[in-house]
Amino acid sequence: MEIYLNTPIKEVISKFPKIGEILEEYEIGCVPCSVGSCLLKDIIEIHNLSEEEEREVMARISKVIYPDRVIPIPKVERKTKTRTGEIKYSPPMKKLVDEHVLIKRWITLIPQVLELLNVESPEDLRIISEGADFIRSYADKFHHAKEEDILFKYFDENLDVLRTMLKDHTKARSHVKALIEAVEKKDKKGIVEHLNAYRELLTEHIKKEDEILYPWMDRNLSVKEVGELFSKFNEVDEISGNGVTERCKAFVVKVEEKIQTPKKEVRP
Ligand SMILES: [Fe+2]
Ligand SMILES: [Fe+2]
Repeated sequence: MEIYLNTPIKEVISKFPKIGEILEEYEIGCVPCSVGSCLLKDIIEIHNLSEEEEREVMARISKVIYPDRVIPIPKVERKTKTRTGEIKYSPPMKKLVDEHVLIKRWITLIPQVLELLNVESPEDLRIISEGADFIRSYADKFHHAKEEDILFKYFDENLDVLRTMLKDHTKARSHVKALIEAVEKKDKKGIVEHLNAYRELLTEHIKKEDEILYPWMDRNLSVKEVGELFSKFNEVDEISGNGVTERCKAFVVKVEEKIQTPKKEVRP
């Protein structure tokens, strides 16, 4: 069993597809993950299963690998404590989670904005352009830059979990670029395709960061590092945050109000 704990998860799953299904039941999304070179033992640690869940998962996995044998269930060595109830973020991580809240407010509005979109209406196109500006200025330059330029530097960026997040950021940027091109061409199909793809990607991305990545990072950062991060994030807030945050908040509030009270269609 030790040998499988030290094998990349994609190899384990391709040999034993049932293991992928078991991990999915515990909301461990290794099957759709585009990188997948985490070792099985890392997955147990990164997802911080409770001791009971860990015993259960390991017992089920061993049964798949060795169906005819009863083997002792190995305990995964952890550098950090196991989960105890609700997630508690350190102050810098809480800042990032709060920024996600504003990003999610815009993402939630996207389906209705697209439903009401008329590419011949300058006002509708302006909302899409401002939405793209929100993504570029707030979600990307302000928020993703904090992650990429500061937070991720505290960890080995070759770790699968970080490579997956960086890949998501790059993919999100390419959707926004395509979205802006579609707005310029008044191409409704392109706008719908790329804004929806962005929404789906970011929804999953934020969920992974809030529920898996940030708690795992918090468990691995020292008290000194947490303090350093907090002051570095505050510096970014002071230098580039204010104008951007206010402008982007105002955009979200404006669209929320528009969606709640859509203009009645006037027919001749
Ligand atoms: Fe991110
Ligand atoms: Fe994030």
